[in-house]
Amino acid sequence: MGLKLTQEEKEMLDGKQGRATRKAMEIITTLGEIYGAQRLIPVSSVQIAGVSYHNLGEAGLEYLAEMAEDGRARVLTTLNPAGMDLSEWKKHGISEDFAINQQRVVDAFEKMGVITTCTCTPYLIGNLPHFGEHIAWAESSAVCFSNSVIGALTNREGGPSALASALTGRTAEYGLHLQENRIAEVKYEIKTELSETDDFGLLGQVIGERTGKTIPYITGIKHATTEELKSFSASVATYGGVAIFHMEGITPNRTTIPEKTEIVTREDLNKARDALDDEDAEIDFISVGCPHASIKEIAAVAELLDGKKVTDGKTVWITTAKPTKDLAIKMGFYDKIEKAGAFLVADACCAVAPLEGRFTGLMTDSAKACFYARGKNKFKTEIRTVDDCIKEAVS
Ligand code: F3S
Repeated sequence: MGLKLTQEEKEMLDGKQGRATRKAMEIITTLGEIYGAQRLIPVSSVQIAGVSYHNLGEAGLEYLAEMAEDGRARVLTTLNPAGMDLSEWKKHGISEDFAINQQRVVDAFEKMGVITTCTCTPYLIGNLPHFGEHIAWAESSAVCFSNSVIGALTNREGGPSALASALTGRTAEYGLHLQENRIAEVKYEIKTELSETDDFGLLGQVIGERTGKTIPYITGIKHATTEELKSFSASVATYGGVAIFHMEGITPNRTTIPEKTEIVTREDLNKARDALDDEDAEIDFISVGCPHASIKEIAAVAELLDGKKVTDGKTVWITTAKPTKDLAIKMGFYDKIEKAGAFLVADACCAVAPLEGRFTGLMTDSAKACFYARGKNKFKTEIRTVDDCIKEAVS
């Protein structure tokens, strides 16, 4: 049948609404044709990845600058983490050169009308779709969280395709925008009690590695907090490429229950933990907030650090979104954290900041952070609870 466009979409593609819109529409329609979409659908929210200058480089920045000449976001659009805290970068050891280039990236997005809060948990700071809403998000952990926990519908967009959706307000209707592609394929019975974000990250690692892109239906979890679900979403997306999961009694999407069943035990989680723990790790960097910390997590860390001092030779980053940092300042959490010698870092994270060579060993509660610390920054890693991470920082 081929892709059918409305009059307005045809005008966008013909360049009648500007050059950037035409380019954006070319990306959307090309993807639609590749994946056999019949039509485009409106999206109400966009989240763009590929914001750190560390990953984008000059070529990526040139592309953005070109799109910013006449491209304007038509729907609510926010950004993934950048390579630095946009206000307090200097005290985190970021170089002036990097800061100038990172700011050029953010300026290009701002010119396009994008809200320049840089976070992988946009759903915690006001970019919050509702159940059944079609959106175009790019950050893999946020895609997994929104599809699964919120019940919004998004494919795992790339940076350019998410930007294209922002500039057109459209995406092609294929993949996870269609109900038939959101059905569970393998059941995972969890035979152990889980607690805290590190455990949920390890479960994401175990299921992700086993399931690949096959959609899991998870049973046996009695309770999970938002923070634990964001940790799980990040991990299962990182280790498996999963963009949606079902968790019995917890997530809202309807699905049939698959017959094929796999068992996950405490021993499996222990093995995953062992795999992330480097015996010879010398911990000089502790980071909490992957995915970006909620105000509840920051409050807990502030309490743990209150009146303590971070040990000489160790650096502590608690990473979060700027609006959450502002709230932490208002509530006095920022002061407690920074007085202890730790940093509450907004807009950035330990994976996308230019940190290679600055540290040797990372301790974190996040299985995803371990993956990137090893792969990108060549750090050794250890995964612990948030409590234990902070104990390590001040011991
Ligand atoms: Fe977010 Fe960075 Fe982790 S983008 S999910 S904090 S690796």
